[in-house]
Amino acid sequence: MRSERATIQKISLPLSLFLFAFFSLTKILLFDNYIDNPSYAANCDFMNKKAVYPGSFDPITNGHVDIIHRGLKVFDQIVVAVLENPKKKPLFTTKERVDMIKSIFRDMKHVEIHSFHGLLVDFAKNMQARVIMRGLRAISDFEYEFQMALMNRKLNPEIETFFMTPSVNYSFLSSNLVKEVSLLGGSLEGLIPEEVEEKIREKFRNDPNVTLI
Ligand code: PNS
Repeated sequence: MRSERATIQKISLPLSLFLFAFFSLTKILLFDNYIDNPSYAANCDFMNKKAVYPGSFDPITNGHVDIIHRGLKVFDQIVVAVLENPKKKPLFTTKERVDMIKSIFRDMKHVEIHSFHGLLVDFAKNMQARVIMRGLRAISDFEYEFQMALMNRKLNPEIETFFMTPSVNYSFLSSNLVKEVSLLGGSLEGLIPEEVEEKIREKFRNDPNVTLI
């Protein structure tokens, strides 16, 4: 019994050292080298970073909100970029659109909201984001999105476009349909955040002559 204990005491230190060396070496060979591989690291470079999510958001719908939540599973920070477009005549002013989105994401520090004008790639660069995130609802969106992604790549090859699909519950949803249904008195339940529903009804109530273009 005593001799067995002595043997265990004798081998326990070398055995621990051996196991420590074995696991350290395995980790270095199998994992660290993989991460240190520049091509692997380059492929992962977009992860855990910032993505710009641009759009007109006139107004933001639950489809957009869904895409932002999905984006947060991939990126650390989402910058919602609201287009200031003087040529289009939006129902909501830029400030109204930004404020509505700020109110929806008020408790989420990983979502920031800005307006922008000019080229989207320049805005993304200023925000130090290398990814533009866009939602793809259906094949019908594809051609426009494909053209835009390639044009943005031509303008700045350092910026990648990343597509996400919303929940199927929102695959038919668009800001334009929301405005039309609201103007005609239809129900928007489950399609837009509560804050937006109030604002949109208020808009039509206060200005009955408002038209949609
Ligand atoms: O919600 P929308 O209207 O489909 O969003 C379109 C948007 C804002 C992504 C697009 O119009 C845009 O990026 N405008 C900025 C101007 C620009 O960079 N144009 C060249 C790239 S195609």
